[in-house]
Amino acid sequence: MRRETQLELIRELLAHHAAGTTQLADNVLTLPADVYTSESHWQAERVALFRCRPVVACLSGAVASAGDYVSLTVGGVPVVVVRGGDGVLRGFRNVCRHRASSVVSDCGSGATSLRCPFHAWTYRLDGSLLARPQAGEGFCGTHESELGLAPVPVGESYGVVFVRAEGEEPVDAAELVGDASQDLNDFAVGGYVPFDRWESSWPCNWKLLVDTFLESYHVFSLHRTTVGRYYLSQPMTYRGYGPNLRFQTCQKSILELGEAPEEEWELLSRATVEYLIAPNTILSHSVDHFAVYQFLPTAVDHTDITMTLYTPESVTDRTRPHYERTLELHQRVGASEDFPQAVKIQQSLASGLVTETLVGRHEVALIHFHQALDQLLS
Ligand code: FES
Ligand SMILES: [Fe+2]
Repeated sequence: MRRETQLELIRELLAHHAAGTTQLADNVLTLPADVYTSESHWQAERVALFRCRPVVACLSGAVASAGDYVSLTVGGVPVVVVRGGDGVLRGFRNVCRHRASSVVSDCGSGATSLRCPFHAWTYRLDGSLLARPQAGEGFCGTHESELGLAPVPVGESYGVVFVRAEGEEPVDAAELVGDASQDLNDFAVGGYVPFDRWESSWPCNWKLLVDTFLESYHVFSLHRTTVGRYYLSQPMTYRGYGPNLRFQTCQKSILELGEAPEEEWELLSRATVEYLIAPNTILSHSVDHFAVYQFLPTAVDHTDITMTLYTPESVTDRTRPHYERTLELHQRVGASEDFPQAVKIQQSLASGLVTETLVGRHEVALIHFHQALDQLLS
């Protein structure tokens, strides 16, 4: 992030703090409970947001070398992105052409082929079928050349890899990053390498989980014994970039900068800066890492979360304990504070007796998120 951008954000924050104000939307947003509970709303999202629109698959560092792959399930469609021996990044349906098992799980590196665990059908990194071990005459009349993995479009820009589960139109990754591109370029996101990942599942709508990242209003209360000791709840400021946005949560120590000359100001050691890449991915930068949260709904009230911790360079024996603690803190705060909260909200909304929730004018990034989703859906 440019120094001038950092200064601008700090100036804005200190001015709000001094005046006892915060950034405000024009109006309170009333969100119908249906956006979280309605099966038909989810079906519309599944098609428009998760299948026909590209979503983030990973950062480039996860598929930097030949044989690196990342799999995920988007809108119900298992997909895999893989770097070929020719350096080309490709996407496929992660569905075996024999009897539709997933071919790979999670992610991996250095593969020379992709082998289905069920009966060992094996595919080259370009998706073509390489072998059907022990099949004998079992598939007489079918042709290996016609049984490659089904391709899906992928695109990569500013260190972010996108994949689209349905349709053949190419993916314009630069357009999908949009005006967040300058910041991501400054962060050199493409140079970050994956350290480890944490997968979990939650019985709630995917948007309730994203919502917890888009306001810090709750920090003083929900996180009072953990990160709330170090982070400010308000002021909250954000920037919208089309359907994407940037939002930061600042450490209390940032207020000390009011006493220091601007030459000494520095934001990134005192704030967590998040980029929402619509609809479902948060790139969260803190000091020395990016935590990439992917919210992957499997039903209106069920969501898988994959959180991958990326570091600026490969973790060494010396830095490993630090990054293990960092991952553990993300897990602790998410799994014991934010995500259970989302589950409780889902239960309230699913009672059928609650018709709406209120998003305050100061929860301005949250308002942007929901309005942007409405636009993408329409
Ligand atoms: S389903 Fe993949 S080899 Fe049988
Ligand atoms: Fe939180």
